[in-house]
Amino acid sequence: MRAAAGRLAGRLATVLDRDGRADLVAEFANPLPLLVIGDLLGIPEADRGPFSSAVSTMFAPEHPGQVAEAVDRIHRFLLGLVAARRAEPGDDLLSALIAARDEGDRLGKDELVSLAFLILMAGSENTQHLISSGLLTLLGHPAQLAEVRADPSLLPDAVEELLRYAHPNQMAIRRFPTEAVDIGGVRIPPGDTVLLCLASAHRDPARYPDPDRFDIHRVDKSHLALGQGFHYCLGAALARTEIRIALETLLRRFPRLALAVPEDDLRWRASFRSHALRELPVTDR
Ligand code: HEM
Repeated sequence: MRAAAGRLAGRLATVLDRDGRADLVAEFANPLPLLVIGDLLGIPEADRGPFSSAVSTMFAPEHPGQVAEAVDRIHRFLLGLVAARRAEPGDDLLSALIAARDEGDRLGKDELVSLAFLILMAGSENTQHLISSGLLTLLGHPAQLAEVRADPSLLPDAVEELLRYAHPNQMAIRRFPTEAVDIGGVRIPPGDTVLLCLASAHRDPARYPDPDRFDIHRVDKSHLALGQGFHYCLGAALARTEIRIALETLLRRFPRLALAVPEDDLRWRASFRSHALRELPVTDR
């Protein structure tokens, strides 16, 4: 999917050519992963506009009442998409899931819609946030930004460090131990809810020397940003590719890229669960 993601990133980036100024959250970081997921799931071009607007409302509603309505629209859209791909398969992931068999067993309509919904949710939000916060982090570290501009082969290392340093999720998905476990002198009984604080793990001084420092040259590049074990992120390779391509496209095309407002004026969507930019106004003048 590299070539397609590159083309989409290039197309979205023209907004800055045109105006010399743009909100990269609305115009670039948010649409790119949605368009890539659209390709992955085989969403027809004509449906992408309304579909993207329903997904954006679901993630960032203006008032809470909008969420149920947006989820309902997406659900109905995915039901229609499953029916269309059943009637006429394409070379997309949804058609492959429809065709998949496991010892004669096949995925039912509800399972297919639920999987498509999961891929849509998991595949868009975090990638969107990491592209925008990733760019902000690089802009805030001019020496490392200059290094990456001079040698784009450093970008994969920069992406790994961004996954640790700028991860939007404060908390991992809830866990429920199936048997008692002892961690840090505390016994957790089976069935208890366990909330793991990713933000804390990623800034653990016992693990990462000088953890609050952004450093693309870290030797230890391990992190929990894409999970661990059975539920390791299905889209890990795609996420890394998209973030790299997004940053590479912007840095290559816009040599004078800079924040258009003081960093302190940027607005964040901050909650117990996640931390993400609402907007990222930039200039290339
Ligand atoms: C920077 C972007 C991304 C981040 C930070 C991220 C992070 C994660 C994490 C932490 C998990 C593990 C959840 C758990 O422990 O239960 C996960 C699972 C998952 N991710 Fe991602 N993800 C990203 C992008 C993507 C993309 C692009 C896709 C799909 C195209 C995707 C699809 C999934 C799916 C389907 C799962 C569930 C896997 C399972 O439960 O077996 N993710 N992701």
